[in-house]
Amino acid sequence: MNVTVIGAGYVGLVTAACLAELGHQVVGVDRDHGRVALLQAGGVPIYEPGLEELIRRNEQAERLRFTTAMPQAVHDADVIFIAVGTPPQEDGSADLQHVLEVARQIGMHMRRFQVVVNKSTVPVGTGDRVWLTIQRELMIRGLSDVSFAVVSNPEFLKEGAAIEDFMRPDRIVIGTADTPDGQRARQQMARLYAPFNRHHERTVWMDVHSAELTKYAANAMLATRISFMNEMARLADAVGADIDAVRRGIGADQRIGHSFLYAGTGYGGSCFPKDTRALVYTASEHDLNMQVVEAVERVNTAQKQLLVGHVERLFGLRLDGRRLAVWGLSFKPQTNDMREAPSRTVIAALLRRGAEVVVHDPVAMDEARRSLTADLADDANALERLHWVDQPMECVDDADALLLLTEWKCFHNPDWGQLARRMRDAVVLDGRNLYDPALLQEHGLAHIGIGRRNALGAIRLGLKRPAPVDANAMSLI
Ligand SMILES: NC(=O)c1ccc[n+]([C@@H]2O[C@H](COP(=O)([O-])OP(=O)(O)OC[C@H]3O[C@@H](n4cnc5c(N)ncnc54)[C@H](O)[C@@H]3O)[C@@H](O)[C@H]2O)c1
Repeated sequence: MNVTVIGAGYVGLVTAACLAELGHQVVGVDRDHGRVALLQAGGVPIYEPGLEELIRRNEQAERLRFTTAMPQAVHDADVIFIAVGTPPQEDGSADLQHVLEVARQIGMHMRRFQVVVNKSTVPVGTGDRVWLTIQRELMIRGLSDVSFAVVSNPEFLKEGAAIEDFMRPDRIVIGTADTPDGQRARQQMARLYAPFNRHHERTVWMDVHSAELTKYAANAMLATRISFMNEMARLADAVGADIDAVRRGIGADQRIGHSFLYAGTGYGGSCFPKDTRALVYTASEHDLNMQVVEAVERVNTAQKQLLVGHVERLFGLRLDGRRLAVWGLSFKPQTNDMREAPSRTVIAALLRRGAEVVVHDPVAMDEARRSLTADLADDANALERLHWVDQPMECVDDADALLLLTEWKCFHNPDWGQLARRMRDAVVLDGRNLYDPALLQEHGLAHIGIGRRNALGAIRLGLKRPAPVDANAMSLI
């Protein structure tokens, strides 16, 4: 089939490359000329394992190409995917300007029956708005008898494992209208995704509104599990329990399962934060309070500050003269995505309190530099105290503490002996509960995890340069 994918970001590129790999003729469209030029020259604007090879292979096989020219890309397509961004607005609602602008352009160039597939995450009712936008353009062009269908096909890929997720989906959610055009669209979507359903039917068919809500409900559920565990971790610290033992204990219950039960520094990324807020906004439009989801968001905001609080308890409210090392910047491993990454909150807070912060990430350094420079645009002094290094061990030289924020594989098994020798004070704040506290202890390192029976008071007493007592009136865990 001829497929056009509009938007060449994380979702659009993966969708385009994977559909080409299945044998479809795919055109990827983006309005960003630089991005398209890079793709045409063989580059890939994002870091996603396996994506570059997949794109190159399908470009060479002439099943995939990229362009900025919307008219031709729309003309040629049987199916048109919309995969542009839906960023959050001030009030939490999803900004639909890109989606509706693309719909308008599709309407300006449509000439025959086509299926328009909304893959962007959009609030319930957006499919109707896309349909109306296209219909209006057709009417302006005197082509109101051209029929088309708008389908919702939300994307569930995980950055870092996006190709695997797309190629081996747990499920494919497709919402179509119960109309003749909707039925026709359903047949085309079934053909498009047929390779995924050969072994067993993975497609969950439903109406458009339900498909749109399914995406938000899925993300809200996953975010809820994370915030639940983060809240439980705080209680574990308070009562002297180990959240990692609790995690294993509850995960073994098949009704609960082991996934998404990790306490940490809070969720980030391009989806959970904005999608939970957008869901709350949608509910408010219907005079409903999403009490659980609102609490999930509040817990997450507080969780991003947890390690900053620990640092304050160890070293004082002012961190002038302190050197803090940070391993990991992207919101999770295997991506360079810095959108809403907890590292941004933590690093900015430490810098604003006067610390020198030395950071390393194996992949996300360029993206992180852009994000943090923007975050601290009002504080040139703080930015000057932010240092970027290429090696994890260089990062810890003379550091008062090391903060592990993203669990990249390269941070899993450091040479602890060397690390302890290179640091000034031997404290590891393990924001991902990656490390074995006993192992670190063997090397003379103090371990502070998330809900791991942390003994901050004792650790503070053992520091070479503890916080001045009068500067730290806060209670110690
Ligand atoms: N990133 C994820 O992990 C993920 C997962 C599932 C769903 N989603 C959803 O998918 C959508 C896209 O997310 P993303 O992370 O790929 O976004 P992104 O910001 O990485 O990419 C969006 C692309 O769309 C392009 N674009 C914007 N307006 C355009 C227009 N008028 N014409 C052509 N191109 C245009 C931009 O230039 C950009 O390259 C969002 O709604 C997001 O919530 C994202």
